[in-house]
Amino acid sequence: MKKVLVVGGGGRCHAIVDALSRSPQVGKIYCAPGNAGIAKQAECIPIKDSDVEALLAFAKEHDINLTVVGPEVALAAGIADRFRANGLSIFGHTKAAARIETSKEFAKEIMIKYGVPTAAYRSFSDYNEALDYVNAGSFPAVLKYDGLAAGKGVIIAQNREEAEEALKDMLLDDRFGKGKVVVEDYLEGPEFSFMCFVNGNRVYPMPLAQDHKRAFDGDKGPNTGGMGAYSPLPFITEEDIHFTLKEVLQKTADAMVSEGCPLSGVLYGGLMKTKGGVKVIEFNARFGDPETEVVLPLMQSDIYDIFSAIAEGNEPENPLEWSNDAILGIVLASKGYPGSYDKGFPIVIDSDIDAHIYHMGTAADGAGYKTAGGRVMMVVCKGADVVEARAKANIAAGKVHCDNLFHRSDIGWQVK
Ligand code: AMP
Ligand code: GLY
Repeated sequence: MKKVLVVGGGGRCHAIVDALSRSPQVGKIYCAPGNAGIAKQAECIPIKDSDVEALLAFAKEHDINLTVVGPEVALAAGIADRFRANGLSIFGHTKAAARIETSKEFAKEIMIKYGVPTAAYRSFSDYNEALDYVNAGSFPAVLKYDGLAAGKGVIIAQNREEAEEALKDMLLDDRFGKGKVVVEDYLEGPEFSFMCFVNGNRVYPMPLAQDHKRAFDGDKGPNTGGMGAYSPLPFITEEDIHFTLKEVLQKTADAMVSEGCPLSGVLYGGLMKTKGGVKVIEFNARFGDPETEVVLPLMQSDIYDIFSAIAEGNEPENPLEWSNDAILGIVLASKGYPGSYDKGFPIVIDSDIDAHIYHMGTAADGAGYKTAGGRVMMVVCKGADVVEARAKANIAAGKVHCDNLFHRSDIGWQVK
């Protein structure tokens, strides 16, 4: 039986651990650092997801057969390079390949060079030049910090004042560290997430999902890490899927091979269906969160086979299989999130809840749980269609009781 180490501790990692626990080959799962919900399915170990040396030492000491990396911070810290240099099998991109996420400018350069459809852009390190360029263009203006910014590095400035403030923040006050800013054209249309497993030139698509970034119903309120997700997406046609697979995902995989930094892990396309066709908003070098919590429950293949084949640079032996169910998940978040919030509120879940529960930010509280993060839990339900899955998920969300949680009730509103 195989021993697997999963790196990370949010809802995405809970979904990965859950999928691995369905594999008949997997005997033992460790998760670093994990969370209180993951602890029911894996042994959680108190090592930070970015502490590459401690993770490497743990994997060696415990004869881990395969390590699966959840978050980008670990990839950016070079975890895959270090593990491979030590002869250990790991699912995740090298630091050089992870630049497709960690540097907006690198991602843009690749897209322009290889003809992957995306918004036109310019990048700046000088505040005055950036401001002049933005003021000479039209509003809204899209400003993106060129580096990891925990989901807070994108500002849609509606006017000069907002642009000036954001550029000051990023280029003069170095809010996220010293870096450049990418200014790109504003695009309009429904957004969708298309994730695939990538092994060099080979691309294996997953079902599509849609995230909901705004905090409140009606897509109002501040941008968050994601308040819910669902699949399938009725507004995306087979033609769109075919186009995106060929012109975006396959092209990008090929480009990364040509650039000498082949992908080996998950490529996440954040896309927009504009009047002028599908365009890339962003790439991530990892599973999306909360999309993974609604995509991996649909997987019917043995995920260990896929992870280990890609980690070893082999083709998975069997084609990937997915269920056709509709699925929808609602995030329960701490009041105040994405701003500041209090922690430590007890959570009581009715015993007749009919949902899959993925923990995002919880801690043990005796035999139960308490809140320990911004996004706390996600309730996920399947149904014959998205409307049915949403009705079930809303009932399930009502069965989680806590004084300090809120959630959206309109996830999947684009499906009537
Ligand atoms: P990102 O972190 O790159 O996913 O950006 C966060 C959000 O900003 C996206 O989900 C979009 O809603 C929005 N956004 C990013 N780039 C653009 C763009 N070029 N035009 C319009 N909206 C954008
Ligand atoms: N759901 C967006 C992300 O994972 O970045």
